[in-house]
Amino acid sequence: MKEQLEQLLADAIGQIKADGVLPADQTVNIQLDRPRDKSHGDFATNLALMLAKPAKSNPRQLAEQIIAAIPQNTLLEKAEIAGPGFINFSIAQDQLKGQLQAMYDSKRMAVAEAENKRTIVIDYSSPNLAKEMHVGHLRSAIIGDATSRVAEFLGHKVIRQNHVGDWGTQFGMLLAHMEQLDNQSAEYELSNLETFYKAAKQRFDDSEEFANRARELVVKLQSGDDYCLRLWNQFIEVSLSHCQEVYDRLGVKLTRDDAMAESAYNDKLPGVIEHLREKQLLVEDQGAQCVFLDEFKGKEGEPLPIIVQKKGGGYLYATTDLAAIEYRQKQLGGDYLMYFVDARQSLHFEQIFTLARKAGFIEGDIRTEHFGFGTVMGRDGKPYKSRDGGVTKLADLLDEAERRALSLLQQKDSDLSEQQQQQIAKVVGISSVKYADLSKNRTSDYIFDWDLMLTFEGNTAPYLLYAYTRVNSIFNRLGDSGFDQGAEFVLNDEREVALANQLVRFNEVVHQVYDKAMPHFLCGYLFDLAGRFSSFYEACPILNQEDLAIRNSRLKLARLTANTLSQGLELLGIPTLEKM
Ligand code: ARG
Repeated sequence: MKEQLEQLLADAIGQIKADGVLPADQTVNIQLDRPRDKSHGDFATNLALMLAKPAKSNPRQLAEQIIAAIPQNTLLEKAEIAGPGFINFSIAQDQLKGQLQAMYDSKRMAVAEAENKRTIVIDYSSPNLAKEMHVGHLRSAIIGDATSRVAEFLGHKVIRQNHVGDWGTQFGMLLAHMEQLDNQSAEYELSNLETFYKAAKQRFDDSEEFANRARELVVKLQSGDDYCLRLWNQFIEVSLSHCQEVYDRLGVKLTRDDAMAESAYNDKLPGVIEHLREKQLLVEDQGAQCVFLDEFKGKEGEPLPIIVQKKGGGYLYATTDLAAIEYRQKQLGGDYLMYFVDARQSLHFEQIFTLARKAGFIEGDIRTEHFGFGTVMGRDGKPYKSRDGGVTKLADLLDEAERRALSLLQQKDSDLSEQQQQQIAKVVGISSVKYADLSKNRTSDYIFDWDLMLTFEGNTAPYLLYAYTRVNSIFNRLGDSGFDQGAEFVLNDEREVALANQLVRFNEVVHQVYDKAMPHFLCGYLFDLAGRFSSFYEACPILNQEDLAIRNSRLKLARLTANTLSQGLELLGIPTLEKM
């Protein structure tokens, strides 16, 4: 609907340009807002206010000319001038009904496929394997996964890449620790990577001899020594399977096949350096190989290096990312590369993207984008920590979520068996953690608060999951008697109209989520939808409605609400429940 109205306005602007009201070369950015107050119509624009100056006219007069130039159409019921020169538009009810019917008839809720289908390589999760996944790994996994689902839904080809860190200097320390354990105790210690890491670090800090051995082992590992590779493989296997357990529990679609580890680029790194040398981009600085780009300066204007090779010959994070970016375009065929990585790495990505283009690692019309996100904070306003002050392992956090969800469910009357409740608690617990994250603006920090996410009040997973079961219960009560799916929509009550207006926005919102990689738009939309449904449900009898035409229409609105909620939640990576 929005696109149709934009088109009408674009035509109107074309017309007033042709009429000489507006200079022909004037660039026009058509912006449409949705007024909060419905008496201001369904859409509003400040176009006339923006263009009054170049048109050498006053805004109200120009608004009148714009309205007059809108082509004949069946979309608009009316267009009115308001205040200093805003234009408010009301959409004709026939249009609204038509849109509802189109959604009703469509398997994809009438969400339009993308016009330009792309091959999108999405880098998300990408933890370092030296340690177990912790709370800091939540956001990339969840937001990246939701965006991937939305991109796929819009018809793009999505290639997931889990750029796990498995090759850094820390591995020397881990291998040194491993080689001192016999098989049995190695197996035991590896069952808790966190303590394994701590023990290794302790020895590294305490013993010079151990530290030297650790350094020796990294060099050996990186030069392909068989013995080191064997130890290392054993460690990586364990660590990756930990990750996979977390992904499976979270319902994150990553699999082992999506893992393209840093080590996989090892053979390519000398070539990266050679290539930079050929392009005359390399500068030696204190024995290290660096690139200095004019675009990047320090606080005092001093040149900022991108270090690509250390003095001893070792490669860095940036070097691997240059190899990876080339691989993603040239081998995987990506024309849009998305990165879901902590906002604190934004300089790194700006540098990599700029350098990759300059050096020709990527070429042509390829889009690269770092989608940064804020930090998960504790209630004390500092990065989230476990009770003992350490980092919280993600697996433990999810256990706690499930426990808390169970106690939330037990507070409610329910005819569910103990076992059913436990099953449901798993979904509610995990979904609450995911939803709490997804519903916040991606770029801000947010406070991780159990009480705010595990409640039936407000914009939470329990609220939405419960709302879905409520809509569903109508159809359970209806049973086999069914209803006339072919009936027309009847929108008499204002609550029916409000619900209908929200339903038809689904297409627009899904596209927005993709464009900005901001899943919280969809969360806000679903929360609003559930709220409008609930007002409708309270005011408008459905099963007891005697007028059959109205009853059928209301059942269709309910069906559409249920389908939209479940489709929306699925795009967020959250399953629905039939009962709660
Ligand atoms: N492993 C890195 C970290 O934990 C994140 C990797 C992100 N992806 C990338 N291509 N650099 O900080």
